[in-house]
Amino acid sequence: MGIKFPDDFIWGTAISAFQTEMGVSREADFPGIDWYQWTHSPEIISEKLVSGDVPENGDGFWDLYKEDMKRAVDLGTNSIRLSVEWARIFPESTGSVEAKVVRNGGGDVVAVDVDEAGFSALTRRADWDAVEHYRGMLEHAKSVGLKVFLTINHFSLPLWAHDPVACHRGIENASRRGWLDEGTLVEFGKYADFASRVFSKDVDIWETINEPEVVATQGYAARGFPPALSDTHLTFQAERNMAFAHSVAYKNLKKHGAGKPVGFGIARNAFMPVDDDPRSQKAADYASYLSTEWILNALIYGAFDNNFDTFTDERAEGISGSDFIGLDYYNRIRVRYSQGASGEGVPNMEVLPCVDCTDFGWDIYPEGIRSVSRWVFNKYRLPIYILENGLADAKDEKRARYIKAHLKELGDAISIDGVPIKGYYHWSLLDNFEWGEGYSKRFGLYAVDYRTKERTRRKSADVFEKVCRTGELLD
Ligand code: BGC
Repeated sequence: MGIKFPDDFIWGTAISAFQTEMGVSREADFPGIDWYQWTHSPEIISEKLVSGDVPENGDGFWDLYKEDMKRAVDLGTNSIRLSVEWARIFPESTGSVEAKVVRNGGGDVVAVDVDEAGFSALTRRADWDAVEHYRGMLEHAKSVGLKVFLTINHFSLPLWAHDPVACHRGIENASRRGWLDEGTLVEFGKYADFASRVFSKDVDIWETINEPEVVATQGYAARGFPPALSDTHLTFQAERNMAFAHSVAYKNLKKHGAGKPVGFGIARNAFMPVDDDPRSQKAADYASYLSTEWILNALIYGAFDNNFDTFTDERAEGISGSDFIGLDYYNRIRVRYSQGASGEGVPNMEVLPCVDCTDFGWDIYPEGIRSVSRWVFNKYRLPIYILENGLADAKDEKRARYIKAHLKELGDAISIDGVPIKGYYHWSLLDNFEWGEGYSKRFGLYAVDYRTKERTRRKSADVFEKVCRTGELLD
C-alpha cells in the first residue's frame, strides 16, 4: 500500500548562498566572507583544511537563478529553501548603528531593538544592489509558485565579523572572532531586523541560523570548518552565543515578518550502538546529547548545561523559543564502547565505518529519519520541517532508493507516529560547493558541469518528482 502525505505538505529542495551563488558574473564574486578568505588562504590549503577548490568556480546561481527555479518547479516542488548572504547585504560593519541592547538578569543579550533612526542608518550601510538582487530572487520564486523558506545565516559570516585565518593562527590575539564575540550576535540582531523589513513580503518561513551546533563543533572541536581549532570551551562558548543570536533574531524577524513562522535548524544523526554492551548504548545517547540535545535545550528553554553532565545548571531568561524545529537528517553513526577512544569527541566511544555508504562515507539509514523526528517531537512538542536530507552520490546509483526509503519512513512518522512534520526539503537542488570538500561531493538532483555551468537532471529526480506531484509514495 502506498503512503499518502498531507494535502498541505511542503515539498522543496534546498540550497545555500555561499554554496551556489558565485561562478558566472564578476558581480557575483564576493570576497568579503569568512569562508571565501578561508578557502583562498594558501596556509589553510597547505594545512589541508580545505580542498583547494574555490567558490567562484561554482554554480552561478546568482545569475542563473531563474532557470534554476524553473528546475525546482519542474521537479513538482512547491517551495524552495535558500539563504541570503549577510556580508553581501552589509559589506561593512554595522557596529556603529545604534540599537537598544537588552540583557537579562544574567547579563546575556536577549534583544536588539532597532528603532526607525537605527533602521534608516542600516539602510545607509546596506548594499542596495545586493538587496534588490535578493528581492528579485525571492519575488521570482513566488511568481513561479514556490513558497520561500529563507535562511538568514547558513554557515558563512562577514569578514568584518570573523577573520578565520587570524583566529586559526592565534585566537588569543584575534580581534574578529565570529560567534565567540558577543558583538557578532548584536550585529546579527540588527541584520535580522533589516532582513525582515526588506524581505518580508516574499518570505513564507524564516530560519535564523542553520545548524549552529555544526558551526561550533566543526569550527572549534573537529577542525572541519573555520577557524579549525580544538577547544571544548570555545565550542560551547560559540554555541551559547548562537543560542542567544537565534533568540535575538527570532524576535526581530517576528516583529516585521508579518507573523510568519520563525525557527532554526539542527542536524541530528542517528547514533546507534553496534553491540549489546550497555556502555555502547550509553555512549550513543551521550553523543546525541552533546551534538544536539544540548543546543536544543538552550535554544528552546534557555537551559544551559555548563559542565556537560546532562543536567541543567542555568536557566537563562528572555529566550524566544521557536515556532518549529528544522531538522536535517542524513545518516546513521555506528558506535561502540571502547576504552580510551574518543570518537566525535565522546569519551570511550569508537565510531565504526559505514555499511551502506555514500560518496562521503556516510551510512545510509532511512529508519533514522523516523526515529529522530519522533524523538525530537516527543521531547520538544514543536512542529518539524525536514530542512535537509540527501546524499553525495556522483553516479546517482543510490539516490533513487535513498529518496524512496526516507520518504516512506517520513510518511510513517507522520501517519503512524503522529509527528507533525510540515514539509520536506531535499538537499540539494544542484551539485554545489561542499565547504571544505569543495566540488568533489555531489548532492544535486541536477548535476552541474562547473566548466560550462550546464545542469543535467539526474535520473533519481524522477522518483522525487513523482512524489512531489502526487503527494503519494507508491510501493
Ligand atoms: C549543511 C549543508 C551541507 C550538507 C551536506 C548540511 O550540514 O547545511 O550546507 O552541504 O549538510 O554536507
